[in-house]
Amino acid sequence: MSDILLDVQNLRTCFPGKKKVIHAVNGVSFTVGYGEILGLVGESGSGKSATCRSIIQLLPFGGRIIEGKIIYKGDDIVKKSERGMRTIRGREIGMIFQEPMNTLNPVTTIGEQIQETLRNKGTSREQRKKRAIELLRLVNIPSPDKRIYEYPHQFSGGMRQRAMIAIALASEPKLLIADEPTTALDVTIQQQIMKLLLDIRNHFHMGIIMITHNLGVASQICDTIAVMYAGRIVEKAPASELFLNPQHPYTHGLMQSIPSADKKGSKLVPIAGHPPDLSVELQGCPFAERCPYCMDKCISEMPVPSYITEKHSCCCHLVGKLDFLNTNVGRSKEVG
Ligand SMILES: Nc1ncnc2c1ncn2[C@@H]1O[C@H](COP(=O)(O)OP(=O)(O)OP(=O)(O)O)[C@@H](O)[C@H]1O
Ligand SMILES: [Mg+2]
Repeated sequence: MSDILLDVQNLRTCFPGKKKVIHAVNGVSFTVGYGEILGLVGESGSGKSATCRSIIQLLPFGGRIIEGKIIYKGDDIVKKSERGMRTIRGREIGMIFQEPMNTLNPVTTIGEQIQETLRNKGTSREQRKKRAIELLRLVNIPSPDKRIYEYPHQFSGGMRQRAMIAIALASEPKLLIADEPTTALDVTIQQQIMKLLLDIRNHFHMGIIMITHNLGVASQICDTIAVMYAGRIVEKAPASELFLNPQHPYTHGLMQSIPSADKKGSKLVPIAGHPPDLSVELQGCPFAERCPYCMDKCISEMPVPSYITEKHSCCCHLVGKLDFLNTNVGRSKEVG
């Protein structure tokens, strides 16, 4: 069996804009292996959610995949009908979102919501209840045998996110997509959820795509990080390599904006400027306008991926020519 669970090839997704088409995902390619955590990182609007929603084909109204392959367990699922996708969503590919309150049903107990997911598995009511308690225990909800009778509003924000994770896990998906699962939570709870995702990966050996706009958060649990900018992956590498040897000026910019203990006292540097208009076709590098190292070539010619190592690629005309190593680049503390 191949180690690759998901292989996204040259994915392009667009949305209808007011006057022009918005090219939200512009030729994205990546793989996720069994047991691998891939971080999709980038500023707001870089196409992280559009990429992941394309994978499960649950795009906001009007959104559509115009090109590319999404090979899941060897099958191109872009070609699947809506009926076919229903057998994949949840069961094969689970998804957790930023704000669980929008996804959880407010008038049904947490226990019922987990058991609902187990209903198709031909299990008895008693077995489903037992499994719901087990799953709540697995995501570290205290007194799960009592908590299954509670409603979402009786759970704290962190507990609701854990409950969402338990619901997603009930179907035993092989791939879990977590879209900004910790953004709405405070830092301590954020760390606990990250640790939980790590434990879950180790327990189920599932692939996880973790979306975040925070490179510091991604650095804590991801094996591989793909940095997105304007609907493209501009740099991709094993997490440790990315931090030791960033190649793209945008990646470096993101690193400089991570708060960390070792940078105490020094200024965090935000990346100046705005991302390009995604409805206009670009000739050159999408980051050119904001890049401190921009050359003429960057405006006229789109950079293609260069390989620094087998697993480290970067789309920049200056690959290998910039030295960020002596700058203040820090990797935040590992979880657990
Ligand atoms: N329903 C929609 N209609 C039109 N444009 C959309 C729609 N959804 C997303 N877009 C556009 O697609 C681009 C990518 O959006 P996406 O939601 O994937 O970004 P993101 O990286 O997930 O950002 P965030 O960090 O804010 O969640 C953005 O320019 C956005 O404006
Ligand atoms: Mg998003």
